[in-house]
Amino acid sequence: MKLKATALVAGAALLSMGLVGTVAADGAALYKAKACFTCHGADAKTPIMPVYPKLAGQNADYAYNQMMDIKSGKRANGQSAAMKGIMATVTEADARAIADWLATQ
Ligand code: HEC
Repeated sequence: MKLKATALVAGAALLSMGLVGTVAADGAALYKAKACFTCHGADAKTPIMPVYPKLAGQNADYAYNQMMDIKSGKRANGQSAAMKGIMATVTEADARAIADWLATQ
């Protein structure tokens, strides 16, 4: 009985480690899949237009909030309209994963 419980705990630890790894990988994959790179650059710091922002190294919470505000229309200043369309395909979880990844770049 004791052995079974230990195996269960070990299994749960492995599972949670696996989940953390998946989230980190998804941010980079989503950045490509959602076409963010077409405007912000493959490295997230070479935007196609000088007025488009560099995102690499940005604070994750800040980046997430900006994405949500552009998605909802709360942020509609500057060139935000250029990005609003793509945000319809980006969920809150997607934005969170991308923001976490951007912060590590
Ligand atoms: C069609 C071009 C385009 C695409 C595609 C695009 N963006 Fe943007 N994004 C912009 C522009 C332009 C701005 C700046 C808006 C402004 O002038 O205020 C911006 C702003 C941002 C900001 C806020 C930056 C800051 O410093 O406030 C974040 C974060 C961001 N984009 C992330 C993304 C992510 C993640 C994706 C992919 C899901 C994406 N963008 C796709 C054009 C785009």
